[in-house]
Amino acid sequence: MASNRVIVDRLREVVGPQVIVDRDVVASYTTDWTRRFEGRSVAVVRPASTEEVAGVVAACRELGVALVPQGGNTGLVGGGVPLHDEVVLSLRRLQTLEPIDTLAGQVTAGAGVVLSALHQAARAAGWAYGVDFASRDSATVGGMVATNAGGTHVLRYGDTRAQLLGLEAVLGTGSVVSHLGGLVKDNTGYHLPGLVCGSEGTLAVVTAARLHLVPAMPCRTVAVLAFPTVSHALDASAVFRRSLPALEASELFLSSGLELVCSVTGMRAPFSGLHPVYLLVEVADHADPTEALAEATSSVDHVIEVVVATDPSRRAELWRYREAHTEAINTLGPPHKLDVALPLGSLAEFIDRVPETVQAIAPAARTWLFGHAGDGNVHVNVSGLPPDDDRVDEGVLRMVGDFGGSISAEHGIGAAKRRWLYLSRTTDEISAFRALKRALDPDGVLNPNVLLPTDGA
Ligand code: MLT
Ligand code: ZN
Repeated sequence: MASNRVIVDRLREVVGPQVIVDRDVVASYTTDWTRRFEGRSVAVVRPASTEEVAGVVAACRELGVALVPQGGNTGLVGGGVPLHDEVVLSLRRLQTLEPIDTLAGQVTAGAGVVLSALHQAARAAGWAYGVDFASRDSATVGGMVATNAGGTHVLRYGDTRAQLLGLEAVLGTGSVVSHLGGLVKDNTGYHLPGLVCGSEGTLAVVTAARLHLVPAMPCRTVAVLAFPTVSHALDASAVFRRSLPALEASELFLSSGLELVCSVTGMRAPFSGLHPVYLLVEVADHADPTEALAEATSSVDHVIEVVVATDPSRRAELWRYREAHTEAINTLGPPHKLDVALPLGSLAEFIDRVPETVQAIAPAARTWLFGHAGDGNVHVNVSGLPPDDDRVDEGVLRMVGDFGGSISAEHGIGAAKRRWLYLSRTTDEISAFRALKRALDPDGVLNPNVLLPTDGA
């Protein structure tokens, strides 16, 4: 193994002063957003072009040093921080955002482009980008592709993979694969973008993506509805999905989460009293969708109360009740974040039972539940647990397996869940994953300590 001095000198040959070794600066790249995962690294390397990324990967391969690719460091499963002393490869300087191709409704964006900048550019050209979520001001295109980011609009536009028409990436060998032409029909063999998307930096380092855009919807209405049970809220979500083709989001949260959000943010609750379950829906169309939403609501049973907003600031306030869950829970200490998907038919029972499962394992812990009701994705957050005590993670993920769910809906496997991958993937699937890893990253340079279980597991 090369010494730190040799590693830094060799990397400086590729990117000059963009090899950061200052301890305080490096520290801002080595802890994840939740503070549950804290690593350390000899250096953060900040290339500004695909050629430089390829040079960094080749140098690391030659030195026998592993690296962790990192975008906006908004990951929630310890997949983008150096937990095994890897070099951090920051892609934030790959900022090129090409002009929107208004004829095709597409754009090519560098890995370091931030989601909110992509939204803004698409909007300015009369289009929109179909993926959205709360960390839009920090999350980057490269990170979103690497983790196949989901978010609040998946039920209408699909996940990041569904937006991806092409990719430029550096394989573990240091070679560059680039296919950014944006042809919608292109049946010429393996779909590398689809394979690399969601591979969490284990197969290739994404440097740019060709993304599909969606029509901009100028008229929006948001409603928050209160229900007595999760099951009633999910029935309502199905009614909205069936009757509103312009439904863009259907999001769930509970009274405990709303109370916490209000106490942390100082916001007032949407209704005078608290109710057990809330569903936030957003409808977005070319013409005002308020009436269509009201009509759909009239055929929903068990609505206790409803509040509707059309003007942007009131809509944003309603969204904040849901989106501020993440930061509110984070104020209670590093949470265990279990992002899972369940068949919709089992989701209500799972949500009702999961707090007991947690309580039986860790009586002092608290469970927070919220998520994307429209696509069966619930975020089980548990506070009051030591970061490295994963008995609750194990209990909840086993329960997900028993219900036929997925142990990761949208955040990925990362370091946090690799030892439970078998709950969602067969031995043969995991062997195929390993074969792909060996083919594209033969020396295990790219994020070797995430996603796949340690050998033998
Ligand atoms: C969300 O849906 O708010 C995000 O996935 C973040 C989180 O799970 O905390
Ligand atoms: Zn989410």
